[in-house]
Amino acid sequence: MGAPLVSIVMGSSSDWEIMQQAARQLQDFGVAYDARVISAHRSPDLLFDYIKEMTAQGVRCFIAGAGGAAHLAGVIAGKTTLPVLGVPIPSKYLKGMDSLLSIVQMPKGIPVATFAIGEAGAANAALFAVSMLALNDELLAQKLAIYRKKQSEAIAATTLPAL
Ligand code: RP5
Repeated sequence: MGAPLVSIVMGSSSDWEIMQQAARQLQDFGVAYDARVISAHRSPDLLFDYIKEMTAQGVRCFIAGAGGAAHLAGVIAGKTTLPVLGVPIPSKYLKGMDSLLSIVQMPKGIPVATFAIGEAGAANAALFAVSMLALNDELLAQKLAIYRKKQSEAIAATTLPAL
């Protein structure tokens, strides 16, 4: 599919169940991506090397999914000026509220665009990446318009069962 335009990073393989929604969405739009498990706290040196490698390969943004004290997206944002899209992964005890607050409450100066907890957030992060890429890609913009039109048509065609 060529050099990756989007990098999907997650803190653990246990995040893949959620983050594969981002990968699927990119795949559906024909956007080349790289998906990798790298932890900000378990393998920080590897993370820094990976950010450099992906930047050299020309990725346009990072999608980072992590759970709990989820600092992965913030650390990536601290190492690159490329857009970083954060996906809060549902956690066992706090149901992802910890992940959400860890990702969304970035101090001023280093932004992370934060999405919903879980599958919807992962899919929407990918759709947002597609929107950004579509700014300079007319074909992708057309695909996105068709994708949106299908959703509108599905709603318009929805009927409720009789009582
Ligand atoms: C975070 O800790 C990961 O992003 C994951 O969501 C969470 C739990 O990781 P595992 O214990 O499943 O490896 O770093």
